Amino acid sequence: MDSAHLENDLVNVLFTQEQIQERLGEMAQQIAADYEGKDLLMVGVLRGAVMVMADLSRALPRHCEMDWMAISSYGSGTKSSGVVRILKDLDTDITGRHVLIVDEIIDTGLTLSWLVNSLGSRGPASVEIATLLRKPEALSMPVEPKYVGWDIPNEFVVGYGLDYHEKYRNLRDIGTLAPHVYS
Ligand code: PRP
Repeated sequence: MDSAHLENDLVNVLFTQEQIQERLGEMAQQIAADYEGKDLLMVGVLRGAVMVMADLSRALPRHCEMDWMAISSYGSGTKSSGVVRILKDLDTDITGRHVLIVDEIIDTGLTLSWLVNSLGSRGPASVEIATLLRKPEALSMPVEPKYVGWDIPNEFVVGYGLDYHEKYRNLRDIGTLAPHVYS
């Protein structure tokens, strides 16, 4: 789906599909250089990270393994509840492995700060994060992604894996949702 198919749902397009692919290509080059000579296990956080994982992994000029986790960040409560649960765990034993968590956005930072601690307790060689987007609120959380596509304002963004009520994930671009859609 393209932005043109959405009529007035978006206030603006933040990043076009071309910009996203270019930035992911740059991140992939950096990852390839940093992990040279090391095995690499990329862990995607379902469901939003599917697009980033697909494109970032294919931009890598080397082999990598992929595995997936599903995490419920807030249950039925709000973000402030701070409750994190594993809904689907890894199929891979990460002992001694170099793990790169792949996500599309760090918002409050709760999910990934918890996940880094959780995976870190399993004896990996390393755990790092690659995220396409990061919001300013996350900067105050104990989460330090090694690879960040862009820092963005604290706006409601959708597309390229990011949803509103499970819609817009298949939008090629990333845009700011118009308030009339969610108010
Ligand atoms: C999104 C995103 C991150 C998390 C970030 O997932 O994929 O994992 O929220 O938010 P935080 O920094 O405030 O913890 P979400 O829970 O919306 O699930 P989804 O990937 O299925 O959309």
